[in-house]
Amino acid sequence: MQLRQLGQSELKVSPVAMGCWPIAGITSINVTEQDSLATLQAAADAGINFFDTAYSYGYDGESERLIGRALGSRRDEIVIATKCGQHWGPGRERVRDGSPERIRQDCEESLRRLGTDRIDLYYLHAPDPDVPVEESAGALLELKNSGKVRAVGVSNFHAIEQYEAFHAVCPITANQPHYNMLQREIEEDRLPWCRDHNVAVCVYWPLMKGFLAGKLPRDHKWDPKDGRQKYPVFQGEEWTKTHDFLDRLRPIAERAGRTLAQLAIAWTIQQPGITAALCGAKRPDQIRETAVAMDWELTPEDLAEIEAAIAARGPLPSRPAL
Ligand SMILES: NC(=O)c1ccc[n+]([C@@H]2O[C@H](COP(=O)([O-])OP(=O)(O)OC[C@H]3O[C@@H](n4cnc5c(N)ncnc54)[C@H](OP(=O)(O)O)[C@@H]3O)[C@@H](O)[C@H]2O)c1
Repeated sequence: MQLRQLGQSELKVSPVAMGCWPIAGITSINVTEQDSLATLQAAADAGINFFDTAYSYGYDGESERLIGRALGSRRDEIVIATKCGQHWGPGRERVRDGSPERIRQDCEESLRRLGTDRIDLYYLHAPDPDVPVEESAGALLELKNSGKVRAVGVSNFHAIEQYEAFHAVCPITANQPHYNMLQREIEEDRLPWCRDHNVAVCVYWPLMKGFLAGKLPRDHKWDPKDGRQKYPVFQGEEWTKTHDFLDRLRPIAERAGRTLAQLAIAWTIQQPGITAALCGAKRPDQIRETAVAMDWELTPEDLAEIEAAIAARGPLPSRPAL
């Protein structure tokens, strides 16, 4: 496995990153502190050096604190990406705030929770509709110039004009949109823009929130606390169609002696312009499994079969939401 250059920065990252949302326990179930700490360790032991978190992963910054605790002694071996501009309000409602004051405050608090003096990659979590994107970019540029942040990224930006406006004030090193075998909208405009501007693309939901790992049976009964069941793609006829899609992929994974999760991740990190796949996990076995995908190169025949299966599945019911 080779580390990849993160955009125009000097940072080098593993193509599989550990996504640290599930360990925050807001939408995922049966999460324990012991498992979460062990999962972070297992990721680093499996060759993953890239950890993706956010100020808002956990109502009280749990995800960042866990990273600080589990990996503090390995700080120089890892690349920490976190995000600002989104937090939880008093009623646990999600609040976007991309104002310069809030960004500076978020940064100080994240540094404290992570137990570090620098954030390697700092994203604006999403544009704030009430704050011009140039103002948020200005605050991030200041943090970069101060040395508290090594590189700046954006997430959940849709219009190319937003990228252009941000980039004109503060160079974007990485972009974080969602992307997986069945959700490929970014190929139309955002991937080409990133390629033309030497911006890394680190994608979330490569497993479509776990579905593409193929471990949820057709008759799966959702736990009432599982946040995934609200998405149309996990309901009714769409659920059946996506299961049929997985059944077409299974033989490709089986003949290579790999799992569906490994297939989904190997495919993602082999797509042109994709720098890293952010793989969520809450137990060590999950991240050990997905890490193996870094060493699997799909053949042109595998890739053609996967494309045929994607075409047969057809488009998802709604875009851009899952
Ligand atoms: N920028 C943003 O707005 C944004 C939004 C979403 C996510 N993200 C980032 O992207 C990361 C990935 O997204 P995600 O965690 O929501 O979704 P994901 O990576 O598509 O799926 C993660 C879920 O898949 C299941 N899973 C993982 N490995 C598995 C394996 N080997 N076998 C079976 N199941 C497995 C686990 O769920 P179960 O065990 O519960 O089945 C896990 O919680 C996040 O952690 C976060 O860092 C960013």
